[in-house]
Amino acid sequence: MISKKVFQLDFFEEERFLIPFYSRYLPTYAWPVVVLGAGAAGASAALSAAQMGREVLVLRKGGGDDSNTFQAQGGIAAVLSDGDHFDLHIRDTLKVGCGLCEPEVVSFIVKEGPGGISRLRELGVKFDQPSGDDGGNGSSLSREGGHSRSRVFSAGGDSTGKAVQASLNQALQNHPRITVMDHFRAVDLLVSEGRCTGVLGLDENGRPVQVLGGAFVLATGASGQIYRETTNPDIATADGLAMAFRAGASVRDMEFFQFHPTTLYIAGAARVLISEAVRGAGAVLRDRKGEPVMEGVHPQGDLAPRDIVSRAILARMVSIGDTNVFLDATGIPEVEKHFPQIARMCASFGIDICKDPIPVRPGAHYMVGGVQTDLQARSDLPGLFACGEVASSGLHGANRLASNSLLEAVVLGEVAGKEAAEEATEPSLLRADPHLKFSSKASHDPVAPLNLGDMLYSMKSLMWRDAGLIREGSQLKDSLEKLRFWEKVLLRREGHSPGLLDLRNMLLTSRLLCFSAFSREESRGTHFRRDFPEESQEKGLFHTVVRRELQA
Ligand code: FAD
Ligand code: SIN
Repeated sequence: MISKKVFQLDFFEEERFLIPFYSRYLPTYAWPVVVLGAGAAGASAALSAAQMGREVLVLRKGGGDDSNTFQAQGGIAAVLSDGDHFDLHIRDTLKVGCGLCEPEVVSFIVKEGPGGISRLRELGVKFDQPSGDDGGNGSSLSREGGHSRSRVFSAGGDSTGKAVQASLNQALQNHPRITVMDHFRAVDLLVSEGRCTGVLGLDENGRPVQVLGGAFVLATGASGQIYRETTNPDIATADGLAMAFRAGASVRDMEFFQFHPTTLYIAGAARVLISEAVRGAGAVLRDRKGEPVMEGVHPQGDLAPRDIVSRAILARMVSIGDTNVFLDATGIPEVEKHFPQIARMCASFGIDICKDPIPVRPGAHYMVGGVQTDLQARSDLPGLFACGEVASSGLHGANRLASNSLLEAVVLGEVAGKEAAEEATEPSLLRADPHLKFSSKASHDPVAPLNLGDMLYSMKSLMWRDAGLIREGSQLKDSLEKLRFWEKVLLRREGHSPGLLDLRNMLLTSRLLCFSAFSREESRGTHFRRDFPEESQEKGLFHTVVRRELQA
């Protein structure tokens, strides 16, 4: 039985909204179901709500390819091969989750896995693995860390995300009941009489508008941009997480953030992911002298859980005074054919993966915690559903099994869409709350100009140093003070600039993460405390839940 430790975060009323508005005077749209975000989770939710006969509006901050889904490489885990069984996938997920997974959620998602793969095939995703007659190229399922069987479906070798996002984008575009607004930034959720009734946003011209809805699905994805080193694209600025928290929803287990062991490390270049499937195919981590990094560290060697591999790399970097280690994929026959995207990307830096070791180091990869949801994808704010990386559904516990997140996004996205469709309301019945307004005390014309880029870089460095792979109470406490100070500075600056809005969301999310990490005085899963290096037995198993206000 997992208990909860519930905390309240220091939060001012003047932080409730990021921009000033007066509902009465805002241009207003109304839709039965509104979905925020259109990666694997949001697109799945929109398609399932539309399938239920509802008109759906999808809002996305960028274009169709601006998502973490688009970046996914390794694939999607699902039990579909003869030698595999649901119980094995469930066991692997629970083991990696280190006691904090919700078993009924794990069981549900794993058992829905084959259905999720079939739906994606129906939408046109051509998986590399055959399913009889779907045009698969005949590759076998791949293996990733923590999986006791090879059960990962890929498309285009290491381009699974591109294939999935392309098919979902096409399906959204083709569906007669789905409308997509691109370059629409959701800024805050509007709450009236305890229910989420609207979203305040900036349309493609940067104009404030409100969108009313019968039900809202939050699927805005990740927050990797809070860290200096990350595999996540620029879009991953934690908007939805911060928005939901400001609106009063609970967030859970924010201390758990997964670090991927292998991102390409070339100073000045983006930290692009080198898929775990490369190690699954036989690549070995070595230091500059050619010594294997994982030898004697863990029985699963290079495929040990990601937090263990990442910390072993960090330790080796420190012990030999290097900025990176190397991934040696030269022993994999026809490696460039299996991983064409990675081969091309490395080649652009003069690295031939058939002959050269790839310089790598760990990077922030996946937000394990998020908006707390139940098996119907409901948050504890009525009218608001959440799915995908922004949500904490209970699947991952204290760490995520590789390739389980696309699976979760597709399965719970479908659930969220169905549930939201049940709560949909005809637009003619939706009314804006004319009393909702917010006027900030912020100023357009501060005495001293602010360098947002500098503050952003300072935040990212602080998070990487003090809330990264290895944490300590005193550093987390200092970080909380610094983050709070920066938040207060920004409170005095009015503006709609994307940089300012992103930074405010990321500072709040960073504070939620540091606060939760400070509160968990043990090491478990992705969360490692130097001052509490063991899992605590006497504290028992608990989730960390943080709310804006404590409920009576
Ligand atoms: P996303 O796909 O990130 O979609 C978020 C959506 O929200 C986007 O449409 C975005 O535009 C929109 N949005 C964001 N903010 C706003 C806003 N303010 N207003 C309006 N819209 C907004 N997982 C696996 O299972 N297998 C893998 O092989 C794998 N590989 C990965 C490789 C990389 C490099 C990365 C970064 C992640 C990988 N993951 C993988 C994780 C997985 O890709 C994500 O967890 C998953 O795609 C999240 O899907 P999502 O729909 O929740 O979010
Ligand atoms: C990878 O391909 O290594 C990433 C897979 C994942 O994050 O699930």
